[in-house]
Amino acid sequence: MKPRLFITRQLPGRAIDMISEYYEVEVWPEYYPPPKSILIEKSRDLDALCTLLTDKIDREVLDAASRLRIIAQYAVGFDNIDVDECTRRGVYVTNTPGVLTEAVADLTWALILAIARRVVEADKFVRSGAWERTRTGWHPTMMLGVDVHGKVLGIIGLGRIGSAVARRARCFGMKVLYYDVERKRDLEEELGVDYVDFDELLRKSDFVSIHVPLTKLTYHMIGERELKLMKPTAYLINTSRGAVVDEKALVKALENRWIAGAALDVFEVEPTPKNNPLLKFSNVIVTPHIGSASRETRERMALMVAENLIAFAKGEIPPNLVNKDVISIRRPGFR
Ligand code: GLV
Ligand code: GLV
Repeated sequence: MKPRLFITRQLPGRAIDMISEYYEVEVWPEYYPPPKSILIEKSRDLDALCTLLTDKIDREVLDAASRLRIIAQYAVGFDNIDVDECTRRGVYVTNTPGVLTEAVADLTWALILAIARRVVEADKFVRSGAWERTRTGWHPTMMLGVDVHGKVLGIIGLGRIGSAVARRARCFGMKVLYYDVERKRDLEEELGVDYVDFDELLRKSDFVSIHVPLTKLTYHMIGERELKLMKPTAYLINTSRGAVVDEKALVKALENRWIAGAALDVFEVEPTPKNNPLLKFSNVIVTPHIGSASRETRERMALMVAENLIAFAKGEIPPNLVNKDVISIRRPGFR
């Protein structure tokens, strides 16, 4: 009998067909995530689970899932999963690193350019008829933004995604600073980036872009103190995880003009409610957590999930194992 796998949302491309050769697959048919009660109920007789970042896998779910051997996360980030608890229980956890790096860097750049040159506001200006009402086709001070070229980009977290953002900055004629818990001298030369400490990065950058995972250490890493250190002309870009930024502090920073604006793809609560006070600012642009949302990338992520699940079913160590310590607790596979 094949091991039983529950996939918490329909995945794009051929991945599910591939996975079905090794697993008895059930897919949650809805657009919204399965409620916790359903996740717990399903978990009781599952051998494997494929999750999204919207599925919270905590002790309660793991307690119910006594047969569970692997969780294949369809994302690079996995802060929705209690990984330590999984390791203790011998549950393998995998993610999808690498395949989405360039897509997230692309979106980060879309946001940098859009916030600097007011692309979203400008679009509304045309559509609403405000342009027509000015009775001028062109005006020296109409819709002025700021230059991107010649400015300083500060990257927090020079991992795969942070590096891909830095690589693009070179073509845009920017100077790049970075801060990371680990200094990366080899990358400094390759990417032409300079290491600075956290506070210096905040003080010197015209655009601060965040590329760290959400952990206990990065939770609210950008709060009042940090926003006050930034230049009043600087912009904050976040395509990582919402909770890395203290949203209440960001609202305060925007109200008091400690910074010039923000471009956010991620929020502390997702979907973010319509009445999130951040949405009232015209110098804030927002997207609905779509960093990796290109057709090609989302299909590659699904194939990577398939590779991880299939390797595990064959008794092999999955290529994108997050909790390597689990290997000494239980061998891969269902036997
Ligand atoms: C999306 O946010 C991911 O972590 O892949
Ligand atoms: C994630 O892919 C990162 O390391 O930046």
